[in-house]
Amino acid sequence: MVVADCLLSQVRWRARSELGGDRVRAPEEPCEPHRPKLSSDTYRWLSDDVTVSESPVPYELPDERVRGAWARLMSEYLVTEGLEPAFARRIRADSPESFAELGAATGPISHLLEPDGIRCVAVDLNPPPGAFSPMVCADLRQLPLPTARFDAVSAVNCLYFLDDPSVGVREAHRVLRPGGLFLASAPSRYHDPELRHALPNWGERSPFDAEEVAEIVAGSFEDVVVEPWEEPACYLRDQAAVTDYLVAFKIPDPGERATLVETPTYVTKSGVNVWARR
Ligand SMILES: C[S@@+](CC[C@H](N)C(=O)[O-])C[C@H]1O[C@@H](n2cnc3c(N)ncnc32)[C@H](O)[C@@H]1O
Repeated sequence: MVVADCLLSQVRWRARSELGGDRVRAPEEPCEPHRPKLSSDTYRWLSDDVTVSESPVPYELPDERVRGAWARLMSEYLVTEGLEPAFARRIRADSPESFAELGAATGPISHLLEPDGIRCVAVDLNPPPGAFSPMVCADLRQLPLPTARFDAVSAVNCLYFLDDPSVGVREAHRVLRPGGLFLASAPSRYHDPELRHALPNWGERSPFDAEEVAEIVAGSFEDVVVEPWEEPACYLRDQAAVTDYLVAFKIPDPGERATLVETPTYVTKSGVNVWARR
């Protein structure tokens, strides 16, 4: 089984892990949840039944070559700020008291909302080191969270890891209070068009891609609003940069495939954000 690559969560633009077809599944040995210190005020607001995971948790680090490629991607090629600040602004405008970030990885939205006094909890099957705390180590398909507990819930770039994402959407719906705000975000199956000749799975459907997200969310939620987005995310000046990009996403034969891409080139990401109410 493939374990989530921690560096995926460090990328600030919003459409990446589906490259190369990697699918995150439950690790053979999921992270060891600790009994929560629910006696502490930090976690008591969640529920006495919720198990909060504490660091360190087992985590599979990518190899050195992938790490190096990611470091250059982040420091030299990235040309966008990402969508989280806009997500946080929209959620903040709803004046929630509590927020659950599902498939959170590092928990970028929780990090932005917590300073406003919003009680946040991150949920991930395989959270990276240093992720937001409190972190509940759990599967999106079966959240160990109380029903109708949260004012806002997000599932950004994670539901496509599920064979049946509607199960995850139903869980998000369950933990939201009536009238609560839901955000799901997913990339288009046609993003990275400039690299289509180099990407083996380019254009293939994923279980939860921009082309189908609205319909799946509408299966559980009311007032579904779809926001399409598209932006140049990276600038790859030469074939070495294209190779780095392909290495970072673990595309096979990166050097050979890089020759199929004309440089310099931007890499355009696209997808949709879906906002809905329970
Ligand atoms: C691409 S990352 C996105 C992280 C974050 N939402 C963001 O946009 O930066 C996807 C995350 O979903 C988590 N994930 C994948 N399948 C999951 C599952 N079945 N249950 C819980 N988390 C899962 C992975 O561990 C990974 O951290």
